[in-house]
Amino acid sequence: MLRLGVLASGRGSNLQALIDAIEAGSLAARLSIVISDNPHAQALERARRHGAQAVVIALEGERAAFEDRLVAALFAAGVDLVVLAGFMRLLGKRFLSRLPCPVMNIHPSLLPAFRGLRAQQQALDYGVKVAGCTVHFVDEGMDTGPIILQKAVPVKENDTEADLAARILAEEHQLLPAAVRLFAEGRLRLEGRKVRILPEKQ
Ligand code: GAR
Repeated sequence: MLRLGVLASGRGSNLQALIDAIEAGSLAARLSIVISDNPHAQALERARRHGAQAVVIALEGERAAFEDRLVAALFAAGVDLVVLAGFMRLLGKRFLSRLPCPVMNIHPSLLPAFRGLRAQQQALDYGVKVAGCTVHFVDEGMDTGPIILQKAVPVKENDTEADLAARILAEEHQLLPAAVRLFAEGRLRLEGRKVRILPEKQ
């Protein structure tokens, strides 16, 4: 069974969506470890409630040492896939090259638009009529890796950042477990920077 490692900095509602899918039997995976850079992250509490290992690794001092500690913890947990679920730090080449498995990220915009922080506010400021969320494999850039799944939502007149974020978040909670399920089923094939989704096995 797929062994998952999740990195989360805060609320952890996307982590919860993964936990709910695992507990409902709709995602054949085991949550091996949850790591947060923030000791107060609600994500840690959600992991413990599920019975998963919950660890704090804070960014203190050297960035390289931080990334090495993350890799060591994920390696020790024997994970097959790392998911960034609201992890608010950029992970560099060092982390990616030392980690023996792929990394997925969920981002609250239709990439390649609105990379980085406060993507929903960026979308409102730009005046787009359609927003959404993206699950992608992580590469060395910021929110630039190969796209796995996307879902669009409408932007409504008078939306606040919170309104739009909530509408997008509801879709994130479907999209992230769906992407991890495809990975668990061996249905994602990377071809250059494109992700091909293979048909369901009979
Ligand atoms: C989610 O909207 C996620 O897409 C976003 O942070 C939120 C975390 O919520 N991630 C990013 O903006 C990454 N650049 P959660 O902690 O409740 O899952």
